[in-house]
Amino acid sequence: MSSSTPAPWWRTAAVYQVLPRSFADGGGDGVGDLAGLRARLPYLAELGVDAVWVTPWYPSPMVDNGYDVADYRDVDAVLGGLGQAEAFVQEAHALGLRVLVDIVPNHTSDAHAWFRAALAGDARARARYLFRPGRGEGGALPPNDWESCFGGPSWTRTTDADGRPGEWYLHSFAPEQPDLDWRNPEVRAEFVDVLRFWFDRGVDGFRVDVAHGLVKEAGLPDALGRDRRTEEHPGWDQDEVHEVYREWREVADSYDPPRVFVAEAWVARPERLPLYLRSDELHMAFEFEPLHVTWREGPWRRVVERGLATAALTGAPSAWALTNHDVVRQVTRYARTQWPERGSNESERARWGTEEPDLALGRTRARAAALLTTALPGLVYVYEGEELGLEEVEDIPTERRLDPIHTRSGGRDPGRDGSRVPLPWSGDRPPYGFSPPGAPEPWLPQPPGWGPLTAAAQEQDPDSTLALYRCALGLRHELMAGPLVWHEAPDGVLAFARGTTVVWVNFGPDDVPLPAGRRVVLASGPAPDGVLPVDTAAWLVPDEEGSR
Ligand code: GLC
Repeated sequence: MSSSTPAPWWRTAAVYQVLPRSFADGGGDGVGDLAGLRARLPYLAELGVDAVWVTPWYPSPMVDNGYDVADYRDVDAVLGGLGQAEAFVQEAHALGLRVLVDIVPNHTSDAHAWFRAALAGDARARARYLFRPGRGEGGALPPNDWESCFGGPSWTRTTDADGRPGEWYLHSFAPEQPDLDWRNPEVRAEFVDVLRFWFDRGVDGFRVDVAHGLVKEAGLPDALGRDRRTEEHPGWDQDEVHEVYREWREVADSYDPPRVFVAEAWVARPERLPLYLRSDELHMAFEFEPLHVTWREGPWRRVVERGLATAALTGAPSAWALTNHDVVRQVTRYARTQWPERGSNESERARWGTEEPDLALGRTRARAAALLTTALPGLVYVYEGEELGLEEVEDIPTERRLDPIHTRSGGRDPGRDGSRVPLPWSGDRPPYGFSPPGAPEPWLPQPPGWGPLTAAAQEQDPDSTLALYRCALGLRHELMAGPLVWHEAPDGVLAFARGTTVVWVNFGPDDVPLPAGRRVVLASGPAPDGVLPVDTAAWLVPDEEGSR
């Protein structure tokens, strides 16, 4: 990039993640849809984000919240269909918002035409998936020992046309999500065509689901007990996957303006992540550590340092996120005793019912965390409802829970539904303006007590979390320029500069005096008389800069 070329929009963007079924219900059936999203686009523009990422909107049996795709070239009728999606892209663009959508290439739904044909015995269709004979007598045992990410074996046995037990197929997630065989050229050609389908409709880029998972080790050897998340596993992160992304990058670069990819890539060895970010592959990858890191200064500093080191090595910007649709919301994570270094999805969810969350404390910390991540170099992703300070809804009745993690754990793990509850827009009781009057109850129950957290209530309050996000997102492009430079600060305080702006985050046990010669331009909570209270963050500018 020459110095006269402006940096592309995505290198510093704030991206708002939308779960279309939980965002806003325009049609009045208790399920969010694209009409609802279109009607709320001005809210997103006013929030100050640069782009919207919509999680899978394709026709889907909804076994895994839309990550089970039945048709990659259409939009679910429940959401309004393809026409609504096209109108949404145009209206977002008219407001200056870019649009990212999810692509789910690792697996289809079992309702996809390809998999139906495969089960019906079509050999060409079967070759697009990973069907294998079983082991043991009569093939009664799975072909290898892989565990599904949602619990239980990664294999399900099929029944042949004559009613006899047949081969097994691989599914890294639920049985309704059969994995594709990315060594099959037909699979590769299909997804290139799908990318073009959406790029031709104006979509600015894709979030690539399970980007590290597409290609499996040849021969599908046993994993021998290796943990998919922390150890090298033959189902993940094979060198051949990079050929896929080199081809995709050529497609993205053939558009004007070039389209972009953000990877969901989990790798066991950190040195493998930069491979996905080579200049002819994906543009960026999520930083996952902030989703689990404890609310303490040292661990946070290490997380930021590692992210910046990856960015320095690859030239790809860091993509920061405090939460998403897969993890416990940060208000609740920060509302309980903090782990020594980091937790995990499972460990956070296991705390439900064992330790009452102090939600006021969690909210105070989550506000400080927002001023930390929005100040970092790179992109920041905001998950719907975090700008309202929503907590995880932990008491959804068992029979209303839908996440396969819940059902496949035999109910031991509450699953991820608690972070996917429909948003509260107005009013003091469910559905809080999520649906128009007269609609049935929202598809996941909203808790009582969200009245003060609705967007409408927070719009009236200059100290609300919504107001804080609006200020931070509105000021960050201007105030957060230049590389991050660490500053000395009292114990327990994370301090750094971006250009002439200085950021202090007080994780420590005591209130601390703020540095002299600077003025608070934005603080996550009250910061009276030059003092930064515990669990508070502040953005500071030199005294002589004009007041805002
Ligand atoms: C990704 C998604 C998650 C989904 C899984 C399987 O991790 O974020 O929600 O369950 O992929 O597609």
